Amino acid sequence: MIIKIGLTLLLISLCFGMPFLAPGFFPQADTTERLDEKVKNFLENHRYRWRNMNVSEEDGKVLYDLVIKNNYTKALEIGTSTGHSAIWIAWALSKTGGKLITIEINEWRYRQALENFEAAGLSDYIDARLADAHELVPKLEGPFDFVFCDADKNWYKNYLIAVYPKLEVGGCYTAHNVRGGRRWGIGEFLDYLDSLPDMETTIAESSWSGISISYKKAEK
Ligand SMILES: C[S@@+](CC[C@H](N)C(=O)[O-])C[C@H]1O[C@@H](n2cnc3c(N)ncnc32)[C@H](O)[C@@H]1O
Repeated sequence: MIIKIGLTLLLISLCFGMPFLAPGFFPQADTTERLDEKVKNFLENHRYRWRNMNVSEEDGKVLYDLVIKNNYTKALEIGTSTGHSAIWIAWALSKTGGKLITIEINEWRYRQALENFEAAGLSDYIDARLADAHELVPKLEGPFDFVFCDADKNWYKNYLIAVYPKLEVGGCYTAHNVRGGRRWGIGEFLDYLDSLPDMETTIAESSWSGISISYKKAEK
């Protein structure tokens, strides 16, 4: 039977120039390529249009790389705004087979983000919620293996307290704007991170505004 299929494929390839090896023969590969193209075009067209406290392109790449490198699939973002960071995270999740929950309190930004997710072709990888993260985050079930915190800085410590038990071992908790002193509650957040024995924290070097990257190690 296997020999028969092999011979048939060989015959087809000789007659029609190997269609099963041509790009597009495998629907999955084709879909991935098309999505990559769509996201790249979207990001290129919007490169200078992010005006709602969005992360820089460099910071977006940091998030993308972390998800890809660790093969994360269960992501949470606190503070969507119009969706720049969510697009980088979701693009990576489209490759790992994961999904992102992202939370925004401002309705106008939430709606803009939905439009951007659609235009980038990434809506299927994003569960966007219009909500107050102070209330919603403690109610989320989890578990998560990747978290990006980028909402109200004076609540950073509370977000970490709420998410920490739902963060898987090997998972990563990241937070934006941690460079530039201890203002707006960033100091309390970093002190609290330091007090957790199983969190190992570094600050992304390529990030001008500072992204803390904390991996959850196995408990001793
Ligand atoms: C710095 S911006 C996020 C930028 C976004 N991560 C990006 O790069 O595109 C912070 C966002 O958090 C939202 N935010 C602030 N407090 C919030 C809360 N309690 N719940 C949900 N979102 C909140 C703000 O409305 C704002 O849009």
